[in-house]
Amino acid sequence: MATINDNYLKLKAGYLFPEIARRVNAFAEANPDAKIIRLGIGDVTEPLPEACRTAMIKAVEEMGDRATFKGYGPEQGYPWLREKIAKHDFQARGCEIDASEIFISDGSKCDTGNILEIFGKNNTIAVTDPVYPVYVDTNVMAGNTGNANDKGEFEGLVYLPITAENNFTATIPSEKVDLIYLCFPNNPTGAVASKEHLQAWVDYARANGSIIFFDAAYEAYITDPEIPHSIYEIEGARDCVIEFRSFSKNAGFTGTRCALTVVPKNLTAKAADGSDVELWKLWNRRQSTKFNGVSYIVQRGAEAVYSQQGQAQTKALISFYLENAKIIREQLTAAGLAVYGGVNAPYVWVKTPNSLSSWDFFDKLLHSCNVVGTPGSGFGAAGEGYFRISAFNSRENVEEAMNRITTRFSA
Ligand code: MLT
Repeated sequence: MATINDNYLKLKAGYLFPEIARRVNAFAEANPDAKIIRLGIGDVTEPLPEACRTAMIKAVEEMGDRATFKGYGPEQGYPWLREKIAKHDFQARGCEIDASEIFISDGSKCDTGNILEIFGKNNTIAVTDPVYPVYVDTNVMAGNTGNANDKGEFEGLVYLPITAENNFTATIPSEKVDLIYLCFPNNPTGAVASKEHLQAWVDYARANGSIIFFDAAYEAYITDPEIPHSIYEIEGARDCVIEFRSFSKNAGFTGTRCALTVVPKNLTAKAADGSDVELWKLWNRRQSTKFNGVSYIVQRGAEAVYSQQGQAQTKALISFYLENAKIIREQLTAAGLAVYGGVNAPYVWVKTPNSLSSWDFFDKLLHSCNVVGTPGSGFGAAGEGYFRISAFNSRENVEEAMNRITTRFSA
């Protein structure tokens, strides 16, 4: 008789965003005339930059000609894309990252989950609370945790609260942890980490032989010139960090799929016999075995982000969403709500009014304003009493949603 991976039974019934979609669909079915505005899942709404589309169209044409047709590409990504990324995203910022250390993939969600395959089962793993749920759920699936308690916290994980009290940046743990997930600009709180804060994490990781998984999917939204875009801007980070990046949020590739993971060649972790093993080799082996690369067409589209037009167009896209975030912040503040984030990130983190629970506020907003957000508690116990509003939508929808909310909730 076949058996299942029982770890899946430890998970909450649904991943957060499908669960939200389920509730919203039920509401929409019962209220077919409601004009629902979705500011829940962080999915982009604006069209792909023209430079990317043009490059992809050209690549499609190349696929139609025997002379330029491409079959399997390198599993790690095409060198021309990896080189552009290394130069523009890292070397231009003083980070010593070589193109060969960059692995192109179809998403940071996949990579932050898949990376666990190259690590052992006995690592102590720390996540922030609230947290992007993928980090937790993939550890549960991999059997790295016990069961959840009634607050939804999994036995075996170390939770690092990020709250208004610590400026939504995780306090360095007093105990030793082996793997640490950090995401800055932060999903869901929209907070950023200063150089000093990241340096403290890197120092901690080096002192303890830990590896940091640094998710920089939202780095393009950083407006504060003092805030690092890559953790490799921090001294010593090459010795202890794997960084994840994506084209989803800067260039609108959520439906097109292109991302990258940086594994410095000098990065090592211990084998069972005590020897040091290069993580680059293991990740390269994993990717070569289980992944056939991102399509040539999509990689050409991603490459175009680094052209002059691509840079101007992605900058305009980001400014557009940041302006949405500003509108959300200002309107909700004027309505008397406490808001955080939304300055260096496309997410605004809101304290729920009248001490409502996150899901009660979700239901209230959905039913009384027909606006969808994301309940903070869906990101972890410390997110209870908070609510995330995404700036990814049209200007018209964002303004309309804020009008509805401020009319309903103004004191
Ligand atoms: C979110 O809403 O948190 C996003 O969908 C995260 C993601 O890109 O997967």
